[in-house]
Formats: sequence, structure tokens, C-alpha cells
Amino acid sequence: MGETNNKIPIILDTDPGCDDAVAIMLAAINPLFDLKAITAVSGNHTLKKTTQNALKVCSALGVVQVPVAAGMSQPIVRKQVIAEHVHGETGLGNFNFGGPLIPLDSRHAVNLIIKTLLNSNGDIIFVALGPLTNLAMAMRLEPKIIAKIKRIVMIGGSYQLGNITPAAEFNIYADPEAAQIVISCGRPIVMIGLNITEKVLATKEIVKRITSIGNKYAALFFNFIDFYIISIKKLYNYEASPIYDPAAIVYLINPAIFKTKPMYVEVELKSELAYGRTHCDYYGSLNRPPNVEVVIDLDSDEFWKIVHDTIKLNS
Ligand code: BDR
Ligand code: CA
Repeated sequence: MGETNNKIPIILDTDPGCDDAVAIMLAAINPLFDLKAITAVSGNHTLKKTTQNALKVCSALGVVQVPVAAGMSQPIVRKQVIAEHVHGETGLGNFNFGGPLIPLDSRHAVNLIIKTLLNSNGDIIFVALGPLTNLAMAMRLEPKIIAKIKRIVMIGGSYQLGNITPAAEFNIYADPEAAQIVISCGRPIVMIGLNITEKVLATKEIVKRITSIGNKYAALFFNFIDFYIISIKKLYNYEASPIYDPAAIVYLINPAIFKTKPMYVEVELKSELAYGRTHCDYYGSLNRPPNVEVVIDLDSDEFWKIVHDTIKLNS
């Protein structure tokens, strides 16, 4: 995480969130990454809780040198929505970290994002695991950062069904205006939406295989997701629970296991029923230039192998 040589520099913007916690862990323990900052945003729970959760996760992991900052507590236009029904009252299910927490960085996350990007040489990948409020605000406050972003890899949206409404996926629905600012920014964007989730199911066998690695990170993996797996399965009647956010980190570790299709994407901001839907022009019928690489498939065996190997690597 210290030196930048041959590492992928990333800013991790997140709303932990059980699946966010797994993603943070993968980014923090895989030596491929140079984790520049972790920025919390309101989403799965209130900003107060998502920030605390980011600190808890980093403290449990022993990640002390990465600044963790609190960002936007409210979406830009809409009324706040949270996903306590999925991630529980703490926002992190049953995970309970009792030890001392690392200190919160005193800067606002939006300022930290701006400073980190302006000081970079344009090589930073912005990884968004929650609503896009922090990044959209940073783009509006300091438009010069836009050219400094190498790529945005975001978890959110869907080119088919939604989850929080029939039309919309949670991260986009939680701040559609912010999502539209980001999606129309002109930088390369990879959108990993709900369409891939049924392919990354945390089946009992997978969870057993990973926990049986038997190290600290395998135990954390289990503690981060045990509550969440049950709640997602019940809510959406899945055969096993999809795990969303780690896909952004796995994508950066090995993009070759993901299949993408360039599409024109626009967020629905006007319709009541479809508010927050990502209209993805799969067939190019609008004749507009594609602005997003939309993930349309992935190799789930390879996905879980990467998660497994990253956890095992740190035994
Ligand atoms: C997304 O919503 C959140 O609940 C998860 O953390 C993930 O980022 C999936 O729709
Ligand atoms: Ca999330």
C-alpha cells in the first residue's frame, strides 16, 4: 500500500455495508493495490454508521496508513434512502469489532478526493461501491479532477431489472442525480451492475471453502457476510446470496474474466416509477456514442478463485 511502483493506485469510495467490507479487505490485503484513500458516503446506512464501519473494518484489518474520511451525509437532490433491511441495524450485520478504532481523517471526503486526484499524475482509478454522491460533488466543486481520473469502476445500475425498485438498483436509486453527473463525465467507466450478481453467489460450499483457509482474513470474510447472506436470500428469494461489491476489486485484479459491452447509459431522473434506472442502450438503438463499458458476464469460478487466493495469500 505504500509505494506506487507497479501497483494500481485506487481511491475506494464506499458505504459499508457487509459486501463493501469484503471489497475493502480484498483491496487492502492484495499487494496489487496502492490504496490512496477510503472515503465513506451515506448509502447502506447513515454516514455516521458507514464511516464508523469503514473505521471498524480498517481497524480489524490492521490498515492504519490509509486515510479514511467521511463524506456526504445526504444525496444531492432526493430524500435519503438506506438499506438497513439488507445490512442490519449497524450496517455491518453481526460484525462487532471491539478493539480501538483507527482515527478518522479530519478532511471532508470530497476535499480528500479532490486533493488526491489533483496531486496525482492521472493514474488513479476511482472505485465506487456505493451511491456516487462524493464523486459527483467533487466533480462539481473542482472540475479539474475529471481529467485526472484514469477510470471509474462502479458497482451499481443494471441493464435489466432493479432490486430496490423494479427499475432501479440501490446505489443509483440512492442518488440518481449524482450518478448521472458521474456517468456523463466523459472519463472511461466500467459499470458492474446487478446483471452479474446471480453469477457470484456465495453458496454454502464457497463460504465453507473460503472460511476453511483458517486465517484472520477468512474469519473476517465470514463475519462480514454471515448476516447479509441470510437477509439477501430471504429478500430476493435467491438460491444463494449474491455478493456485489467485491466484483469491483476482482475486476481490477483480473479484468479478463469479465465480459463488457460499450453502451450509451443515462440515469432516469424524471419518471416516478423508473427513477434511478440506468437506461443502457444495449442494441445501440439511440445512436448515441457509448459512455460506459457495461459488464454483461463473468466467470464466477475464476471470481471465487481470486477471492480465495487473495485471502490465502495473506496466511
Ligand atoms: C449495492 O447496494 C448495496 O446494498 C450493496 O453494498 C451494493 O453496493 C447492490 O445493489
Ligand atoms: Ca456498497
